[in-house]
Amino acid sequence: MRTDYHCHVLPEIDDGAKNTDISVQMLGILRSQGVERVIATPHFYAHKEKSVANFLDKRQQAYDKLMVCPNPCDELILGAEIAIEHGISELDGIERLAITGTDLILLELPYGPYDEWMSEEIYNISCEYHLKPVIAHIHRYINYYSRSEMENILKTDAIFQINNEVFGSIREKRMFRSMIKEGLSVVFGSDSHNLYRRRPNFDILAKKKISGIVENSDNIFDKYRRNSL
Ligand SMILES: [Fe+2]
Repeated sequence: MRTDYHCHVLPEIDDGAKNTDISVQMLGILRSQGVERVIATPHFYAHKEKSVANFLDKRQQAYDKLMVCPNPCDELILGAEIAIEHGISELDGIERLAITGTDLILLELPYGPYDEWMSEEIYNISCEYHLKPVIAHIHRYINYYSRSEMENILKTDAIFQINNEVFGSIREKRMFRSMIKEGLSVVFGSDSHNLYRRRPNFDILAKKKISGIVENSDNIFDKYRRNSL
């Protein structure tokens, strides 16, 4: 099932879809691009939220609002894009932000110099809750991290999420290719926020000769589904 692992499609919860009309249009575009399963990943910034429980209430309200609209998406799964901050692994209820029904959790590294504590937070979340970290848009960090720091992160026992626009940059494309060569696990996402500059873009993947890699990405969701489902 073609899967978008990273999408700000829920209405009025973050800097993504501004209303349900835009959400429905975004889902319609994704559907026309062959996407059958969309993981909604609104931003979660611990320092801005009252609590995980409060965020989950807001997310549910946004989801319910969208679900009463004519919905062109076969499967809309709830998740979050969790900003890695100091102490995030100890935040009460952090494990509840995993992608619903799976052991996957989408984590976003800070945009700034790399520091060892970031890897420690990722490691702690993964060990404490038996979750598989998915590091959001890893290719973006080549502008922030040195080569050895990037190698350090890529050694993490994680899945690496790639934004489809990776092919628009020579450096990022080169990094993507070397990750595939190294056998790292990769999943794709649109990271779409709206209908304009950051619109759904799975059409980019269709033009590339990487169908096997995209299928692997799709299959990772089922691989990490919880048995209880
Ligand atoms: Fe995002």
